[in-house]
Amino acid sequence: MKMTKKTLFTETPVTIGPESGYDNYIMAIESSCDETACAIVKNGREVISNVVASQIKTHEKYGGVIPEIAAREHLESINVVIEEAFKQANIKPQDITAFAGTVGPGLVGCLLVGLNAAKTLALVYDKPFIGVNHLNAHLCGNYIDTDLKPPYIALLISGGHTQIIDVKSYSEQKIIGETIDDAVGEAYDKVARLIGLPYPGGPVLDKLAKEGNPHAFKLPEAKVDGYNFSFSGLKTAVLRLVKSFDGQELPVNDICASFQECVSSTLFKKVKKALEESGYKQVVIAGGVAANSEIRRKIFSLEEEGYRVNAPLMKYCTDNAAMVASCAYFNTNTFDDIDVEVFSRA
Ligand code: KG4
Ligand code: ZN
Repeated sequence: MKMTKKTLFTETPVTIGPESGYDNYIMAIESSCDETACAIVKNGREVISNVVASQIKTHEKYGGVIPEIAAREHLESINVVIEEAFKQANIKPQDITAFAGTVGPGLVGCLLVGLNAAKTLALVYDKPFIGVNHLNAHLCGNYIDTDLKPPYIALLISGGHTQIIDVKSYSEQKIIGETIDDAVGEAYDKVARLIGLPYPGGPVLDKLAKEGNPHAFKLPEAKVDGYNFSFSGLKTAVLRLVKSFDGQELPVNDICASFQECVSSTLFKKVKKALEESGYKQVVIAGGVAANSEIRRKIFSLEEEGYRVNAPLMKYCTDNAAMVASCAYFNTNTFDDIDVEVFSRA
């Protein structure tokens, strides 16, 4: 089915998506958390430019993202990343097919900066505006540089979400399981803080885990029904383990490796079950935690069983705007209304 969107002033119909019959260049802006990002993507899969200004250095000293400071930094970076994206792509704003922006979930003050920039560009250049859900965008990172098509099972793991999704078609998705407490990324960041690692804990913990023994400590895997998850018990178990050392030097690498083993095998088992029950032959991982080396290794081991496995390149796993542009192109649950308001929770 062809997807038509209207421009904002002249209301000219513009067809967008795989069936439009011409090359689409979508510019997208992402500012839901601590990355200010802008990208231009051709036909949903080919990245023409991809610019990310990270605020990690700023938030490092606080051990987490401070929303008000993050919003101010987005304001400072937004024009620079937009200009840079146009420059890298060597394309004029008039030649952009549509402008897209992340609507939510995320930090409201941060989302407002990027979304308003996207809306403004659409108004000024009289192009369609497409609002995008950040979680759908993470899934679409898998379309970049691939020929992946639904149906498939997706494991979406980020700082705020842990979901198993049945992706039936580009626009039809069903969440079949999710966490009942902490998200995977949140568990990584909290455990990292417990053992004294710097923010953001996930990548550091992943690195140290490679140097440790994954079977040094037996940590509990939560027994949760169906495809749901729970990670708060695991976090408490690590806390207890840390306390048991009573101030002595912690075997940090072994704790990291044991924690990583527990998380990755829980995720693996549920993904495999979803594949078996759906009958699908394809699985993808998405979200910031999809950058994790052991989770990737386990999920990719499914290739040996005949499944097609896909994970975005690291730069398209963590927050970026290329995935947002791809999502706008494939019309995966997007918003057309220029008055759409930002939202904080899914
Ligand atoms: O998707 P994302 O960039 O932001 C959200 O939308 O949440 O994900 C950020 C999360 C953080 O919790 C970070 O610690 C985690 O992804 N993360 C990792 C790794 N790289 C990023 N967690 C574990 N291993 C990694 N290699
Ligand atoms: Zn994200």
